[in-house]
Amino acid sequence: MKILVIGGNGTIGKRVTAYLKENHEVIVAGRSKGDVILDISDSHSIKSALDAVGTLDGIVCIAGEAKWAAFDELSEEDYYIGLRSKLMGQVNVVRIGQNYLNPKGSITLSTGILADDPVVKTASAAMVNGGIHSFVQAVNLEMENDIRVNVVSLGMVEDAYEKYKSYFPGHSPIPTNKVINAYARSIEGSGRGEIIRIY
Ligand SMILES: NC(=O)c1ccc[n+]([C@@H]2O[C@H](COP(=O)([O-])OP(=O)(O)OC[C@H]3O[C@@H](n4cnc5c(N)ncnc54)[C@H](OP(=O)(O)O)[C@@H]3O)[C@@H](O)[C@H]2O)c1
Repeated sequence: MKILVIGGNGTIGKRVTAYLKENHEVIVAGRSKGDVILDISDSHSIKSALDAVGTLDGIVCIAGEAKWAAFDELSEEDYYIGLRSKLMGQVNVVRIGQNYLNPKGSITLSTGILADDPVVKTASAAMVNGGIHSFVQAVNLEMENDIRVNVVSLGMVEDAYEKYKSYFPGHSPIPTNKVINAYARSIEGSGRGEIIRIY
């Protein structure tokens, strides 16, 4: 399959990319580096990048930001960071990306444990994750050409343990093989509308 991995140079993305490259043609997209440059928070940028890569069998988005801060410190503008990037950015990946997929192609989005089990300072991040979960279930009712949309929702991954451990006391980091398998299930399996939770 020919697969575009947005965020394919990131902590999680590089693991998924390495796995996919064993059996597929993989194109890595990122905001600052990659085979193609794109910013998911800008729909024109998504379209230009997809025009450049052409027809695909899979699109994987392992990118998207939201502001982490105490509820009292989050301004309205801070919420728009997550709404524009992780929420609407991923919605636009589906909205625009579906037009570049072969029949039976798949789109895999990324969220995280905060949707179901938030920690402090994540009012914005948890909200956008939950929004994507609802979006994925609803949009699958209307996808054409047998296109499948799933979302992988991970707990704190092993590779990011040092960065996030203070936010997630008592959480067990998710081993890399489970991270890879979650994405493999969405991309290489046949499920649709699934929230693949690995906590
Ligand atoms: N790490 C975890 O434990 C964990 C757990 C659950 C969910 N998640 C979620 O999974 C996603 C990836 O996490 P990560 O830890 O791998 O992050 P990361 O190491 O920061 O990597 C993110 C990647 O996405 C790219 N990117 C960021 N914003 C982008 C944008 N607007 N448009 C296009 N590309 C963009 C980055 O490219 P540039 O460097 O070029 O900007 C980078 O390659 C995030 O949404 C994160 O919230 C992470």
